[in-house]
Amino acid sequence: MGNTTGEDLGTKNVLLGITGGIAAYKAPLIARGLTNLGFEVHVIMSESAQQFVTPLTLRTLTGRPVYSEMFPELPPNACEVEHIALADRADLFLIAPATANCMAKLAHGIADDLLTCVALATKAPILLCPSMNVNMLSHRATQENMRTLRARGVSILEPAIGELACGWEGAGRLPEPGRIVDEVRRVLYQKDLEGVKVLITCGPTCEDIDPVRFITNRSTGKMGSALAEAACLRGALVKVISGPVSIEYAPWAEVVEVRSARQMLHAVQEGLTDADVLIMAAAVADYVPSVYRDSKIKKGDRLQSIELSSSPDILSTIRPLKEERFFVGFAAETENVADFAKDKMIRKGLDMIVANRVGQPGSGFASDTNSGVIITPEGVLDDFEQMGKDSLAHKILDFIRERL
Ligand SMILES: Cc1cc2nc3c(=O)[nH]c(=O)nc-3n(C[C@H](O)[C@H](O)[C@H](O)COP(=O)(O)O)c2cc1C
Repeated sequence: MGNTTGEDLGTKNVLLGITGGIAAYKAPLIARGLTNLGFEVHVIMSESAQQFVTPLTLRTLTGRPVYSEMFPELPPNACEVEHIALADRADLFLIAPATANCMAKLAHGIADDLLTCVALATKAPILLCPSMNVNMLSHRATQENMRTLRARGVSILEPAIGELACGWEGAGRLPEPGRIVDEVRRVLYQKDLEGVKVLITCGPTCEDIDPVRFITNRSTGKMGSALAEAACLRGALVKVISGPVSIEYAPWAEVVEVRSARQMLHAVQEGLTDADVLIMAAAVADYVPSVYRDSKIKKGDRLQSIELSSSPDILSTIRPLKEERFFVGFAAETENVADFAKDKMIRKGLDMIVANRVGQPGSGFASDTNSGVIITPEGVLDDFEQMGKDSLAHKILDFIRERL
């Protein structure tokens, strides 16, 4: 199979524009994050930006010259028009931070320095990360400029809310460099799942015994989280239904938090009405306490046993709602992995099942890697040895996309 996942980002050329906001001090971290991912990063700085961070820092981090002058001294034999060459080479023009002044100029097509000139000349997508004082941001002029730019197809990453360098609290913070680097990845990703609505269950469920105790399992949500991120990067509209986890999901996914198997069932029933694909990556409890005690069970109660009953079977319950939807299940097995998984796939009416080998180092719960088999009703599609959950997520999505 070719590069269907679009992860070949290393060859992409990102033009990083830095304008004169106080958050320019974070720009070197953005440049570093992008170069670490293998992007070719070229930096253009406005004159004001150089008051906040030096070209030398950016040149050192990117290993490339930093551009800022519209009319630089050129060697006599240089005949490339710099702003056009930079504009043509870019796969993405990221401006971070983008000042109110810069956005005003872009909204009105003003090209009075190298950065704004390149913004007019480039055919590459433009991603702006505005950052400024809260009153500058909420000013009608700035808001209108942002609306104009959005209407023209420019992407704008909303500023974060919090403490601002000027002493004010509110919207206007530059999002963290890692968040901006993620956004660059998403913009540049090959969108082969554009518009596909994917519902993913993740993590464990917790079945309460009393207000302080519960039954749960070792699931951390890592596999579901990798699937959610991969699907978002590839353009899918992702809704995650998550049991209690300590990981963070991709910022583009809508997350519905649940606790018990019953709550997860209800959330899946609701989410399914607007989904093309369901991926059940959660480790749902098989058994739940038959009775929930409102008050803490005391040591002196001399409890001998806890009566358990079967939890709701989510896949069996929602099966009548399947229609044209593509259903993917997960199985965690310690032995006869493929046989047990195939049996589960048939019993539950799934279109695909991913069976993990659990109980082995580097596979299953809490691990960053997995090994197992991917099976469809036609047979075993893939028997994979230990691989990263991120790569596995893309592999699973490749198989799903081929079958949609
Ligand atoms: C200390 C200081 C901090 C500034 N911070 C910001 C800021 O965060 N956002 C912004 O839009 N402008 C900020 N400005 C104003 C810009 O530097 C000013 O509008 C400048 O003309 C921007 O030029 P440029 O857009 O070409 O980089 C700041 C100015 C100073 C002196």
